[in-house]
Amino acid sequence: MTARLLDGKAIASEIREELAKDVAAFTQCSGVTPCLAAILVGDDPASDVYVRNKRRACEKTGVDSQLHRLPVETKEDELLALIGALNTAASVHGILVQLPLPKQIDETRVLDAVHALKDVDSFHPENVGLVSQGRPRFLPCTPHGCMQILHRSGIEASGKHAVVVGRSEIVGKPLASMLVQRNSHLGPTAANATVTVCHSRTANLAEITRQADILVAAIGQAKFITADMVKPGATVIDVGINRTEEGLVGDVDFDAVKKIAGTITPVPGGVGPLTIAMLLANTLTAAKLQNA
Ligand code: GUN
Repeated sequence: MTARLLDGKAIASEIREELAKDVAAFTQCSGVTPCLAAILVGDDPASDVYVRNKRRACEKTGVDSQLHRLPVETKEDELLALIGALNTAASVHGILVQLPLPKQIDETRVLDAVHALKDVDSFHPENVGLVSQGRPRFLPCTPHGCMQILHRSGIEASGKHAVVVGRSEIVGKPLASMLVQRNSHLGPTAANATVTVCHSRTANLAEITRQADILVAAIGQAKFITADMVKPGATVIDVGINRTEEGLVGDVDFDAVKKIAGTITPVPGGVGPLTIAMLLANTLTAAKLQNA
């Protein structure tokens, strides 16, 4: 048996089409075009690709975009000054600081400096708190993308055992928090999971992952999840994007796991495209909040 493939590209394109209509309606009635400002410090090639894809997706959806490129030797205060200026710019609704940042810059200080109403990544402590309390202002993009893939593919989370491998602030922690809520903007079936979060110090990891009805791999290590770690018929969501000699590969050993799983996301073409679609959704939300 081979697992059903979940086509993230197709789902992202469907969401972008819906968003383009919502953006057009908002712009027509308010006279405001949502605008996303991205800040890229240094010349990390992967970040370059992300930022280029973001810009293209903005264009397709009717969202304005700005790109602020700063050299790799930029000082923290210079970056904070730019964020301060964007925080007060009425024409900018969303601010995204592309990660990773160069070593001389304190990431937490910088992310905390983004105005909470313009924080389209949902990294600000106020927005993290709201997500954790189940009353989100902005949903974090990659976890929200995972929820959309599940929901739009007819896979319910309610009552299932979801095992999230990885406890990052960007994916693992917020996704676990979203899965365990009583309700969600996608309804109670896209919530109410029994959630286990695993990490590098988890004992008997495979024993736990084998109990997962929904297994999310967000570790950042190529092909970390092997076939023996997966329950037959499980849904496997691969959040990993690892650059290897054989090209882009996920955190799941795809060729082996697809023979065991019931449903699986590929890499590339799985969760990745959803992250940008959800970023655009947050930019529209930000523009609405700032023009209420
Ligand atoms: N770098 C990799 N993923 C992300 C993301 O979701 N947001 C930001 N700001 N930077 C990233």
